[in-house]
Amino acid sequence: MISTVEATPNIAVVKYWGKRDEKLILPTNASISATMDETLRTRTSVVFSERFKSDEAWLNGKKLEGKDLGEISRMLDIIRSAGKAKMKARMASLNCFPTAAGFASSASGMAALACAGTAALGLEISPKELSIIARQGSGSACRSVMGGFVEWTRGEKKDGSDYHAVQIADEKHWPQIRNVIAITEKTKKKVSSRAGMKQTVDTSSLFAKRIADLPNVLDAMRKAIRARDLESFLGIAMKESTNMHAVMMDTWPPIIYLNNVSREIIYAVHDYNAAKGALEAGYTFDAGPNAHVYTTEKNAAEVRKMLGEIEGVQKTMVCRVGSGPKYLKNGKDALFEEDGTAKKHYYDEEKDRIVIG
Ligand code: PMV
Repeated sequence: MISTVEATPNIAVVKYWGKRDEKLILPTNASISATMDETLRTRTSVVFSERFKSDEAWLNGKKLEGKDLGEISRMLDIIRSAGKAKMKARMASLNCFPTAAGFASSASGMAALACAGTAALGLEISPKELSIIARQGSGSACRSVMGGFVEWTRGEKKDGSDYHAVQIADEKHWPQIRNVIAITEKTKKKVSSRAGMKQTVDTSSLFAKRIADLPNVLDAMRKAIRARDLESFLGIAMKESTNMHAVMMDTWPPIIYLNNVSREIIYAVHDYNAAKGALEAGYTFDAGPNAHVYTTEKNAAEVRKMLGEIEGVQKTMVCRVGSGPKYLKNGKDALFEEDGTAKKHYYDEEKDRIVIG
């Protein structure tokens, strides 16, 4: 059976930075994110067959080989082991991201693969189990298997079975929330998050303080989301992002993901809030210099304009909180024929649609 799924990235407001188990991808702390809407999305089709001699994979129309194919095969192994299956698979994945986005697509990509792969094997699987599979592809991907506001729990068990996504509130809970994205750089980051967080755990003396403080931060963030308390939500998100970037800076050798434009965005958001006399916008930055500025519907256009006017900001986009992965049942949407024959496909950025055939 062929299965096709679209998944979206997520942006953390309480960050994951540090692992206690590198192989199973078990984090040193819980984290909280909002899943994004389809402004950015990855479509993935997976088909298993007794006829296939080996796994094959395509990303954005290009056939994967070597290490890249190995990474997909390793995820397919995890999916096969969940379904007690031996069949080889074909996977095609297409990122519908603006070329200027400068975003990592691993969260949406690995979430889409976990969903499409398990569905292609006909597995009845809970969102919790799905998040455990996605987690092993890329940590933050485990939060993209659900919509709304999502927590990735920090468990106790060695096998990682209690480290998974839990929905705090769905996408309808706080419909006014907007994420205004400001792209400041397109190039790939110099230090991968995998290598960077390991370096921080090994060398930062501030990291222990961060870990000790996080339970209270997580508690306050859960409460702010449940109560739709904007000032608390924005204040915690800004301080938390800054705290993660502080331990990155305290890493040896230092890791600096923010650039001069990010710094101008930080100042501009504080000036904006000062002019409003209240916290009405709040930034967060992942392992890169692009800003995600949370605000509400009524201020989104104003915030977008403000960010767009900062020198060095290349592109701005406005996202809502998304509803999570979508299973596309119509065979026309699949990136393969039912029997695994390749279909030509590409993303038409101008029309924001996938062209197949
Ligand atoms: O899962 P990774 O390897 O993409 O790491 C993501 C780490 C941050 O984006 C910086 C924070 C987070 O919680 O998403």
